[in-house]
Amino acid sequence: MISAQIRELAQISKDLKIPLISLEVGEFLLNTLASYSSPKVLEIGSGIGFSSFLMSTQAKLVYTIEKDPERYEKLRLLMPQFQIDNVIAINADALAYHLDETLKFEVIFIDAAKSKYQEYFEKYAPYLTANGCIISDNMFFHHLQPQLVSKNTKKLLLKLQNYRQFLQDHPTFKTQILAIGDGLAVSVIK
Ligand SMILES: C[S@@+](CC[C@H](N)C(=O)[O-])C[C@H]1O[C@@H](n2cnc3c(N)ncnc32)[C@H](O)[C@@H]1O
Repeated sequence: MISAQIRELAQISKDLKIPLISLEVGEFLLNTLASYSSPKVLEIGSGIGFSSFLMSTQAKLVYTIEKDPERYEKLRLLMPQFQIDNVIAINADALAYHLDETLKFEVIFIDAAKSKYQEYFEKYAPYLTANGCIISDNMFFHHLQPQLVSKNTKKLLLKLQNYRQFLQDHPTFKTQILAIGDGLAVSVIK
């Protein structure tokens, strides 16, 4: 269950106009984590920590990578306020960062630049445990219609469509797209 304190952080994110996962997605992440014993999580795209703090209530350890220095600093400031001691926050571009390759995660949660999802997936899939899952958020991208959006948004929609195809065609992962929040792709090793 999502505590009142964590809901408070959702409001802080909204006030700062930082996009964050929906509460429905939050509940799904908590339930998924509850199916593992002492799971470790890797998150790509921390924002100011709503989803990482939430997952930390059900995970042994959460590694979260955020490229924006201001959001990272805010997250670091919020950690003691929310008594969070099992989140390891990294200020870096996830695509440039070198993560210790001995680390393994039961859940990898992708919630950063929508145009780069395939790159995050390819880079971090080797860090997944054999029974783990990679969860990608915003697969529906607010159900935007390509004919009604700007050229740049149209490009993003195409990228997400290509990502869905990449997941469906993947030789070693099988993926389910779930109608939860803005659409979640849940990929597990075949
Ligand atoms: C949707 S927000 C994350 C929200 C957060 N997961 C939550 O629900 O509280 C996406 C974040 O990804 C970050 N981001 C974008 N590209 C990134 C990259 N290559 N590496 C790390 N972070 C990135 C953005 O700065 C932004 O803060």
